[in-house]
Amino acid sequence: MRDFRGKVAVITGAASGIGLGMARTFGREGMRVAMLDRRRGALEAAAEEVRGLQIDALAIETDVSDDKSVEEAAKQIEAEFGRVDIVCNNAGVLLHDKDLADIPMAEWDWIIGVNLYGVIHGVRSFLPRIKKHGEGGHIVNTASIGGFQVGAAMRTPAYAVTKFGVVALSEGLRNELGGSNIGVSVLAPAATDTGIYRSARDKPEKFGAPDVGPDPTPATLRAGAQPDQIGRRVLDAVKRGEFYIFTHLETRDWLLKRHEGIIDSFDSLERFEAEIERIPRMGVFAAEKNE
Ligand SMILES: NC(=O)c1ccc[n+]([C@@H]2O[C@H](COP(=O)([O-])OP(=O)(O)OC[C@H]3O[C@@H](n4cnc5c(N)ncnc54)[C@H](O)[C@@H]3O)[C@@H](O)[C@H]2O)c1
Repeated sequence: MRDFRGKVAVITGAASGIGLGMARTFGREGMRVAMLDRRRGALEAAAEEVRGLQIDALAIETDVSDDKSVEEAAKQIEAEFGRVDIVCNNAGVLLHDKDLADIPMAEWDWIIGVNLYGVIHGVRSFLPRIKKHGEGGHIVNTASIGGFQVGAAMRTPAYAVTKFGVVALSEGLRNELGGSNIGVSVLAPAATDTGIYRSARDKPEKFGAPDVGPDPTPATLRAGAQPDQIGRRVLDAVKRGEFYIFTHLETRDWLLKRHEGIIDSFDSLERFEAEIERIPRMGVFAAEKNE
């Protein structure tokens, strides 16, 4: 997409942080923005702030973990703005410092519900609406650098589980939409100065008691990127039709290390085949379909 003026951007998790940064950035580009979030008060305040920048902003209280809520929001956006051009499936929550086997099922439901089903619901409700007008558009799914590697020091493995899912979903979508006029990107931020570490404070009761302890936000996040910088990075990538949107150069080395470790693991398979038995090759299937 290159022509943004008057077009409509839908952004979930827009009451704060990266979602709000994207709302301001796309709005400054002349787009109308539909801002969706579960926290009504914070969402209204954020939308007011955005309107103060002379941006046409619509605030819709939405729970992305609930397919009906997302579909209702989509209907309201169509009624108010008449079209959808860019969708940023960005709402997300974080579980940290919990070992995998100790996470209650209700919290698994919460983090998978928001981070993964939230994106699935966004694609199901909005992709058909972008297709409907035929003029093209773009879907940006917010994963994380945690969707590409599971950092031992971060102690956020359940979060990474959901973000790997977002990367897979986005790659699948890219396969499906390749050659069409609808672009796809997956956003992989690292430390950004937002409230993500406080997300369990607003956890709905049905997913277990909200956290009321001290603010656990690490200093690395506070010293991290500003949400508007991420917004500008996303806008630039959408203009250029880029799929992977990384935000921190130092994370390239993290991924290099991970990928080298994976590729090196094939040495053991070579040894196994040489010493023990040969496993049949898959022929053309992998090369043709899995590139
Ligand atoms: N901040 C970082 O360092 C960082 C790094 C990598 C990825 N991310 C990702 O960026 C995205 C935005 O997070 P952020 O860092 O701006 O944090 P944030 O907490 O400021 O923003 C997340 C927003 O999502 C909303 N939300 C939570 N549950 C929701 C639900 N069920 N329905 C609708 N909205 C809901 C919250 O109310 C909040 O406004 C998330 O997907 C997060 O995982 C953030």
